[in-house]
Amino acid sequence: MHKTEEILVAKQYIEKLTSVQPTIGIILGSGLGPFADTLENAVHIPYDEIPHFAKSAAVGHANELVIGTIGGKKVVAMKGRFHYYEGFTLDQVTFPVRVMKALGVEKLIVTNACGAVNTDFNPGDLMIISDHINLTANNPLMGPNNPDLGVRFLDVSEVYNKKLRGIVKEVAKEQNVNVREGVYAWWTGPTYETPAEIRMIRTLGADAVGMSTVPEALIANHSGIETIGISCLTNMACGILDQPLSHDEVIETAERVKSTFLNLVKEVITR
Ligand code: 6GU
Repeated sequence: MHKTEEILVAKQYIEKLTSVQPTIGIILGSGLGPFADTLENAVHIPYDEIPHFAKSAAVGHANELVIGTIGGKKVVAMKGRFHYYEGFTLDQVTFPVRVMKALGVEKLIVTNACGAVNTDFNPGDLMIISDHINLTANNPLMGPNNPDLGVRFLDVSEVYNKKLRGIVKEVAKEQNVNVREGVYAWWTGPTYETPAEIRMIRTLGADAVGMSTVPEALIANHSGIETIGISCLTNMACGILDQPLSHDEVIETAERVKSTFLNLVKEVITR
């Protein structure tokens, strides 16, 4: 469980480097990092310089907090995230969300690249996360609860805020983006799923599967931050097409959809 004192130390370190007090947070998934470079008056703070942040080494991710403004809103962006499959504890994965809360964040957008489980979906589709299924048998709130931070038994009946999801739909419609909505299953990784596991996951009711997002969304909820999740479906999950999965395909599709995704996210933040 996160310690109040450690969150405070990280917050104070960050506040010395910027006068911007962010109210909106965004976690940028694979390929979405460039969004952080569109923030104005931005300060870039490497994770490894922030007290109590984990040291990340994931390939394909810059690892810094970027704080600035966009569309008149004050934003803190995570360019690169900590993944459970890298061996980080869920406390480490989610610590930045606690710090966002301490900085004044009230609303959080969590993004990711993931696989499509629903066979009606296509690579390159964007999906608003309506709900999730936790397949990892772990939970970032496991262990003693710190009552400074939130309740012991968290209600998770609306992890992904319905009103904010409505804004995403509204913006998508205006921008002619065909956005899906569906259930995200959280898989530890780092292996992708087998064809049998994908059949199981579909049977359980998920539309997409990925290796992130759920821990951050749970801690955001615990912190009282209104949260939404948007996925980029970069590939069909295993066993749907007669071909192996490749990380290259994930990167290629994320790259192809990047500008659509960035425009959507920018306007959602503005509203
Ligand atoms: Cl198919 N599975 C998981 N767990 N994560 C992914 C993915 C699939 N495609 C992109 N990320």
